[in-house]
Amino acid sequence: MPVRMKQLCVAIVFGVLAGAVNSHADDKETAAAVTNEDGKYYDKDGTPTFNIGEDGTVDWYTYSGYRRFNSECHVCHGADGAGSSFAPALADSLKTMSYGDFLSTVAEGRKNLSAGKESVMPAFGDNKNVYCYMDDIYVYLRARAVGGLPRGRPAKKEDKPEAAREHESSCMDG
Ligand code: HEC
Repeated sequence: MPVRMKQLCVAIVFGVLAGAVNSHADDKETAAAVTNEDGKYYDKDGTPTFNIGEDGTVDWYTYSGYRRFNSECHVCHGADGAGSSFAPALADSLKTMSYGDFLSTVAEGRKNLSAGKESVMPAFGDNKNVYCYMDDIYVYLRARAVGGLPRGRPAKKEDKPEAAREHESSCMDG
């Protein structure tokens, strides 16, 4: 099994475990960045998070997540995660959804066949354009949900870190 699929499996198991604890609320304070590893920010629990400077400059991953979200997810979830009649507003969902639940939902998809309506979230676990950028999409949506990130393309961004370049080429080629 390729390393990345293993990581994804670990993420899914983690997601299932995290799902058992279903009360989860996120806010600006919880999401505050306390560490920065090569341009990737983490909160006090070690969960990936966004960083927005006073002049509105976003970290690279938030910017990258904006681009990925608005190419892979917006058709159903609406531009900037604002929602549509077909799929929920993820800019709201992430106020109460844990990182683990997010990873497992995106990797495995979800089907809701209640009350005669069919509502299907596709599985993206084997789509490199999504799983190679899972954290990017997560931190972007987290910034939309609790970080006050406005709609639209962030005007200023940090430079692309070397670590992002390396992750991208090994993930996309693997
Ligand atoms: C083909 C349409 C479609 C696409 C494309 C899509 N989704 Fe979804 N997604 C849905 C639907 C419909 C639901 C609600 C499923 C349900 O009712 O349980 C959903 C649910 C979700 C949820 C759970 C939200 C909640 O409030 O519980 C997350 C997280 C999510 N999608 C993330 C994503 C991400 C990230 C992408 C892009 C990589 C994406 N989706 C692309 C249709 C889509």
